Amino acid sequence: MTAPVLRIEGLRKHYGGVVAVDQVSFNVEAGTITALIGPNGCGKSTLIDCLSGFLPAQGGRWFLQAQEITGRAPWEIVKAGLSRTFQTVRVYPTLTVTENLLVALQARAVAPWTRNFFRTPALRRLEADSRQRVREVIDRVGLRAVADLPAGTLSYGQQKLIALGAAVVERPALLILDEPLAGVNPTLCRQIGELLAGLRDEGMTLLLVEHNMDFVMRMSDKVVVLDRGRLLVEGTPQAVRADPRVLEAYIGSPPRSLAKEAA
Ligand SMILES: Nc1ncnc2c1ncn2[C@@H]1O[C@H](COP(=O)(O)OP(=O)(O)OP(=O)(O)O)[C@@H](O)[C@H]1O
Ligand SMILES: [Mg+2]
Repeated sequence: MTAPVLRIEGLRKHYGGVVAVDQVSFNVEAGTITALIGPNGCGKSTLIDCLSGFLPAQGGRWFLQAQEITGRAPWEIVKAGLSRTFQTVRVYPTLTVTENLLVALQARAVAPWTRNFFRTPALRRLEADSRQRVREVIDRVGLRAVADLPAGTLSYGQQKLIALGAAVVERPALLILDEPLAGVNPTLCRQIGELLAGLRDEGMTLLLVEHNMDFVMRMSDKVVVLDRGRLLVEGTPQAVRADPRVLEAYIGSPPRSLAKEAA
């Protein structure tokens, strides 16, 4: 078996007296979709924020493709091959769709200003390659018709697609998505599902935080359940769905498909 793309050992994070993530350990295997689920406030976003360097953690270590990334800055972690989207969609509203993706791409391929100044052949080649890659991704997320419009003038769903495009344009080893379906209509949900399955089939590894249980159960190779900051259960979608501890964790707001199964 190949080494996991992400290995998390004992990640711990508290906000003052509130323990948000409590000694969580799990692996994300190469070429799979792992879903991270759990009731509101159980620590999913906090865990992702720590992994991607946006929040400092109080304990634990984590490794991307066997390279330790604990405590590194977000840009270093991106460079190591981890890309993410946010629960609240983030795009540059005044830049066009194409420009948003070019910025995402160039954030990594930082050209020294001298190369920029002298417009060397190497830089021109880099630019041509970047534009080609951006066009590919825009087609892939279905935004060709609006590629030259400012992101801020597009719908919420379209902005989510831009954020997704920006996250994959560099072909990351690991893509982490925080609620990609939240606020999205059923047609777009299907489109995003196909897109994510396609990325996985091409060898990308995904860690998906999502409340839509039908989607999670259909898409995931493995499901990890958090409850009040702790890892409650991990296993196949079938095993997790059948586990009474999972339904219990959700009592008060059981997700529809789990409640249906238990009835
Ligand atoms: N900046 C903060 N300061 C203090 N407490 C916080 C902060 N951010 C989150 N928390 C607390 O940490 C816990 C975990 O929150 P987090 O946002 O990680 O949950 P989540 O699983 O992503 O929830 P949701 O499904 O609603 O997005 C909650 O108890 C939350 O109130
Ligand atoms: Mg969250």
